[in-house]
Amino acid sequence: MNVAHIIVIGLSFLSVVCKKQNPVPPPDVESLKSVAPFPVGAAISATHLQNNTAYKNVLVKEMNSITPENAMKFANLHPQSQSYAFGDADAIVNFAVAHGMRLHGHTLLWHQSVPGWVQQFNGDSAAWESVMKTHIQTVVSRYKDKLTSWDVVNEAFLDNGALRIPDTDTSSRDNGSIWARKLGTDYIARAFTYAREADHDLLLFYNDYGQEYSTAKIQSIKNMVNSFKARGIPIDGIGLQMHMHVNTSRAGITNALQQLSATGLKIHISELDISVNSKGDPNAVYSDAIQKAQGDLFSFVVTQYKSIVPVAQQYGITTWNVGDADSWIRSTYKRKDWPLLFDDTYQKKAVYHAFLQALRN
Ligand code: XIL
Repeated sequence: MNVAHIIVIGLSFLSVVCKKQNPVPPPDVESLKSVAPFPVGAAISATHLQNNTAYKNVLVKEMNSITPENAMKFANLHPQSQSYAFGDADAIVNFAVAHGMRLHGHTLLWHQSVPGWVQQFNGDSAAWESVMKTHIQTVVSRYKDKLTSWDVVNEAFLDNGALRIPDTDTSSRDNGSIWARKLGTDYIARAFTYAREADHDLLLFYNDYGQEYSTAKIQSIKNMVNSFKARGIPIDGIGLQMHMHVNTSRAGITNALQQLSATGLKIHISELDISVNSKGDPNAVYSDAIQKAQGDLFSFVVTQYKSIVPVAQQYGITTWNVGDADSWIRSTYKRKDWPLLFDDTYQKKAVYHAFLQALRN
């Protein structure tokens, strides 16, 4: 044994002793995306991304799919008839590309986020058609090699299954669509066709809320899909937003997943959150019992998705926002609520662990 051997043995001994005295905890490698058999994502904002490191870190660690919360909506992207504002959308795209995340666009046509110039637009049906087609093809083309998929049309049906009534009032979720009024009731099919023309590889989704409680809406979506198939109109997937509350019927969730999976299209749980204060009680508290019920429902959604939706149709699960602090529920409905997997400081909540466990099993 020469001097070198002695030094090596001595160093190894020292390192073993040191490790015993200062055990290094295993790196926190587990994450939603590392255990899930399909992509897991969140709806995000460019502002939070730029200003909040904790927010950004959670996304990088946990998610492999991104949906822009507002940045790709019509009014945000196309505020004037002749000018587009791509800044926030580009920032989100650059972030997702830099981190190898899938990008899902939201949304080309919706009865909300209609800019003033469109609301005031005067033109014959050809001019209106051009407004729709130009918007869709400009935006789809810009992000052609970056986005995997788009919600082409969002929320076109009412809960009673009727096409969203073609009136002019676009101020609330539940009334008319200017698109149906100006473009005629078959505008959805043409929107899908225009999107496919602009990008042949793009996956095209129809996205809506309430399938978990409205069988009439499910039926209308299925009728639309059948009509598209019969006419050769492209469609690849259905988004179920799933903005739920702790008491949402489990049977309704199961039914929606079963019925929509039967179309053979990809199924995206596209905007998941579970409200715990849907009545807006100003004194609401986030008790252990409520957290347990919420966690049970999050895991129910995941386990049903895994068992009902065939693997090839599992497009993934996206939550709408990241932490409770940035949830749209708080800002839109002006109430206390805790609907997401991360808390106000982007720490994992108890429901995160329930969700993760369900993804893994
Ligand atoms: C919401 C955003 O989260 C809010 O910031 C915005 O003020 C309104 O839109 N269904 C959808 C989403 O498809 O686009 C909505 O997003 C939430 C409901």
